[in-house]
Amino acid sequence: MEYTSLIIQCEVTMCGIFGTVLKQGKAVELITDGLKRLEYRGYDSIGVAMIDNGELHLRKDMGKLEEVIENLNINEMNGLVGMGHTRWATHGAPNMINAHPHLDGSGQIALVHNGVIENFMELKDELIEKDHNFVSRTDTEVIPHLIQEEMKADVGLKDAILRVLRRLKGSYAIVVVTSLEPDKIYCARHESPLVLGVSGEGTYCASDVPAMLPYTNKVNYLRNGELAVLDVDGYQIMKISDGSYVERGLEEITWSLEMAEKQGYQHYMLKEITEQPTSLRDGLRLQEQYIDLITQFLDRGKEVLLTAAGTSYHSCLAASYIFSKIARLTTYPVVSSEFIERYGSTVGIDSIVLTVSQSGETYDTLKAIDHARMKAATVLGITNTVGSTLTRVSRAYIVQQSGPEIGVAATKTFTSQVLVFAQLAMRLAKMRGKLSQDELDEFDENLHRVPDMVEEALARNDDRIKELAEKLKDDKLFLFLGRGISAATALEGRLKVLEITYVPSLAYPAGESKHGPISIVEDGVACIFICPRGDTHSHIIGSIMEMKARGAKIISICEEGDNDIIRLSDEVIEMPIGIPETLSPIPYIVPLQLLSYRLAVMKGLDPDMPRNLAKSVTVP
Ligand code: G6P
Repeated sequence: MEYTSLIIQCEVTMCGIFGTVLKQGKAVELITDGLKRLEYRGYDSIGVAMIDNGELHLRKDMGKLEEVIENLNINEMNGLVGMGHTRWATHGAPNMINAHPHLDGSGQIALVHNGVIENFMELKDELIEKDHNFVSRTDTEVIPHLIQEEMKADVGLKDAILRVLRRLKGSYAIVVVTSLEPDKIYCARHESPLVLGVSGEGTYCASDVPAMLPYTNKVNYLRNGELAVLDVDGYQIMKISDGSYVERGLEEITWSLEMAEKQGYQHYMLKEITEQPTSLRDGLRLQEQYIDLITQFLDRGKEVLLTAAGTSYHSCLAASYIFSKIARLTTYPVVSSEFIERYGSTVGIDSIVLTVSQSGETYDTLKAIDHARMKAATVLGITNTVGSTLTRVSRAYIVQQSGPEIGVAATKTFTSQVLVFAQLAMRLAKMRGKLSQDELDEFDENLHRVPDMVEEALARNDDRIKELAEKLKDDKLFLFLGRGISAATALEGRLKVLEITYVPSLAYPAGESKHGPISIVEDGVACIFICPRGDTHSHIIGSIMEMKARGAKIISICEEGDNDIIRLSDEVIEMPIGIPETLSPIPYIVPLQLLSYRLAVMKGLDPDMPRNLAKSVTVP
């Protein structure tokens, strides 16, 4: 398979959208201002479409928001109706052509999109057959073309849009501005956010509340499967499925602007922990061909080295268990700062170096892969940042689709990385015939249940964790223990506590604890055990008893109703039933993320900006 053609394919998930219909004034100024407030959602290019005197005008380019606005004199555009988009590409190089808005063939319908259209290839082929020409590599461009096509059947714009939306598979928030109906905006959502707002001055739609908060605090969150038609006096909402109208009143937002940027959360870290069900759902929408491509490389390598730093390294560690158990592939995880010393002399043309970096810019990680490339190894990447150095130097890469992470302590990017690894392992198992069809189906089903499991774990444990943090807030030492893949969860849990609470902590594979760490255990020392059901369950019971015998305070994270563990524990965090051990790091890390967050806040520390740490370490 030719890989270069694949990595320039373009998709968008995290983007910012703002649209408005005003009674008077310059709509474009509200639009560019709104886009600035949405910049946290990512930015590599921006675009604006305005209706001026009944005509559609469009300006867009890649680059930083302020620069593009200035270079293209965007604020000079006129009109009372318009929309803008700030894009954060998740695959391929950002450029002007791929920037939104995208147009239909007639140049009359402009559309912006946040999300991923999974069936766009099929739709595009169908449109090409009907002589549509496409200029971009985006999935988005098919949508305005489909609307144009539907309108040929002599239906009105609203019905054409409804028909098109019913055909789309995947996720979207879309906004349409068109000279065919110059006083209106159409917008719709399915699994990507979109909020409507009204004021005495006009009507607004945006990806998020902060964009419109300077103009109104009266909002209506569009729900999945809804289309809204905006005009200067307000909006109408209807169901995409049958076109029936939906009545729903406005909600009043009481957040300050600063709070709104964090969607009402006190800190980005809490916001990012809480949005994991969504980031994981996005992480399950990777395009098949990327998974296939990386899997083929993994299959061919004589050895597979996994390298990364910090949290990303812990995802590699978890991956080494998943690859071994699911695909019978031996992999060697190594922290990237040790890569050259440890494997620098042996890495070579037959080696695959699968590199993980949220930022794609970590110095040690880039140094490691530079070395590997010099030795002719095949470097593959998993990252959250398109256009990062990792994406440029990797032979092929996967973008994990977590969306921007702002809190220094990585949370949602960890769970998505493990999810990407699990998908690779499953594909490899299939390719190598290591699992039966029934086993593959079961694993796939479990994978798709993971976001719900995380949602449930979050919902049921919020109060419990506050209570636990209250009890633990003065502890001076934590010991994190887990067996098998839970050793990786323990290490990542320890890192969270260390990073943001500064409390000295240890993490060990539980079996190894008797070779040293047990010496520091005395009355009341907090030992946090990670105990999913599975192969390691009976062994972890033995480890708990060893620590209990020495007076440790036992805090266990286990499945609901796991009485073997519960009766040995002083404190329990109960998890949803039925998570297989190989996928357990994803839901089981969540209570530990929350616990460290609560501890930091109770200690009066800022979890988003821990001392001495940086989000991306680009120095040796
Ligand atoms: C820093 C961050 C960590 C991160 C690590 C690796 O230490 O504070 O959160 O895990 O770098 O970053 P990367 O971007 O390579 O995943």
